[in-house]
Amino acid sequence: MNLSAYPLEEIAAKVGTPFYFYDASILNAKLGELAALTDGPGLVCRYAVKANSSHKVLEAAKRHGMWIDAVSGNEVLRAKKAGFAMGHDPAVVMYTADVFRDNALQVVLENGVMPNVGSPGMIRELAEAGYQGPIALRINPGFGHGHVQACDTGGPSSKHGVWYEDHLDAKKLADDAGFPVVALHAHVGTGPQIREFDENMKKLVALFAHLLPQYPDAQSVNLGGGIPHPYKPAAEPYPLDEYRGILLDGVRQLTAAAERPVGIEIEPGRYPVAGMALLVARVKDIKATRTNEKGPGHEFIMVDAGFNDLIRPAMYGSYHKISIVGPNAGRAPEPFVVAGPLCESGDVFTRDDQELLQPRDLPRPEAGDLLVLHDAGAYGTSMSSNYVSLGRAAQVFWENGHASLVSRRETLDDITRMECDEPLG
Ligand code: LLP
Repeated sequence: MNLSAYPLEEIAAKVGTPFYFYDASILNAKLGELAALTDGPGLVCRYAVKANSSHKVLEAAKRHGMWIDAVSGNEVLRAKKAGFAMGHDPAVVMYTADVFRDNALQVVLENGVMPNVGSPGMIRELAEAGYQGPIALRINPGFGHGHVQACDTGGPSSKHGVWYEDHLDAKKLADDAGFPVVALHAHVGTGPQIREFDENMKKLVALFAHLLPQYPDAQSVNLGGGIPHPYKPAAEPYPLDEYRGILLDGVRQLTAAAERPVGIEIEPGRYPVAGMALLVARVKDIKATRTNEKGPGHEFIMVDAGFNDLIRPAMYGSYHKISIVGPNAGRAPEPFVVAGPLCESGDVFTRDDQELLQPRDLPRPEAGDLLVLHDAGAYGTSMSSNYVSLGRAAQVFWENGHASLVSRRETLDDITRMECDEPLG
C-alpha cells in the first residue's frame, strides 16, 4: 500500500491510535480477481467470514457475487444482516464447524442454512433437533499444510472433519437421519511454499473423485480456502490463473467420476482481505537492552498497538511488513525489535516462527511518528481482543479519497456491558 496516498495523521487525530485502515480499492480488486477465478458454470466462491467480518467487507463480497462460509451462528447472522440469502436452495450461506456452540444450531434451524458437518456427533444433534434438509460433509483427507503447525488443517493431528477412511460411518448416520449429503468439503490450509497449495488442491480433487460415486446426492465439492497471500517482500503473489486451470480440470474430473454434473466451491478468507489493511500505531519510545550472559541486547521501538490488536506475530511468528511514516522514513535502516504496550514479553511484532525475537531493519523513528504494520486485513480485527481492558481498535474505510469510520474504538462501557450480578437459583 502506498502510504503517501493516505492522510494517516489526519485520521489518527480523529480516531486515535492504534487503528485499522482499509483501502476499498484493494479489497474490490481482489474480490474481482476471485469473481473472475470462479466465473462460469460449476464454480462458486464463498468468502470465509472469519478472516474479516466487517460489514463493509461482507457488503463488498456480496456485490462481487460471493457466497459465504460462516463458522459460527453469529457469522451466519452477520451475513444475513449484510443481505445474503438464507435457506439451502441454493445454500448461499454454509455453516462449517466441528462443534455446535451457542446459537449455531438454532440459527441453522431457523434460517434453513446448510450445515457442513465436521464431526459425526453433529449429525445426531441435528437429527435430535428436528433438522430436515441437506448437509455437507467435511472430510479430513489425511494431508494438509499450514504456514505453521497450528494452521495445518488436514492430517492425523488435525481435529477438523471426518477422517477420510471413516467417511462411510458418517454417511450412514446421515442416511439414517434422512439428510442427503449434497456436498463434500475439505480445507487443508496453506503451506509455507505457494506450490504446496496447488499440489494439495489437485490431491483433493483426486480424493473426491474417488469418493463421489458413493455420494449420489452430491452436487459439489468444496476445496476450502488457503489461497496464499505474499506477506514477505520477496514472496511471489500466487498465480490465480493456474488455480483456475486446476478448478476447470477439477470440474471435468469430478463430473466424469460421478457421471453427473458436479461443481467446485472454494472458500478463501485471507486472499481478498489480507493486503487491504494497515494497522496504524504510534511510536511512543525507543529504548535498549544491553548484551549480557543471557544474550544479545536489542533496541526496541515501543508502539501503542499490541497483540490484543494483531495477534498473528505473537501466535504464529507471522511476518508483517513494517514501515515508518513521515520524514524519518528516509533514514538508513538499523535493526529494531518492535514491541507493544502489554505486560507480556511476547508482545512483539518482530518474531520468527520459533517465537524468537527477530530484529527488523527499519529507519530510526522518533517518538510521535506513526508506524504501520502491513497486510493486516486477514485475521487482524477478527482475532483482536480486549485483553487488559484495552478497547478494540477503530476501523477506518478509505474509498474514493474519503475516509469513514466503520467501527469505532471499543470503550470501557462496551467492555463491561455484560457484567452482572444475578443469582442463579
Ligand atoms: N474454510 C475453512 C473451513 C477454514 O477453516 C478456513 C480457515 C478458511 C476457509 C479460510 O482460509 P484462508 O483462505 O483464510 O487461509 N488465523 C490464521 C489462519 C487460520 C485459518 C483457519 N481456517 C492466520 O492468521 O493465519
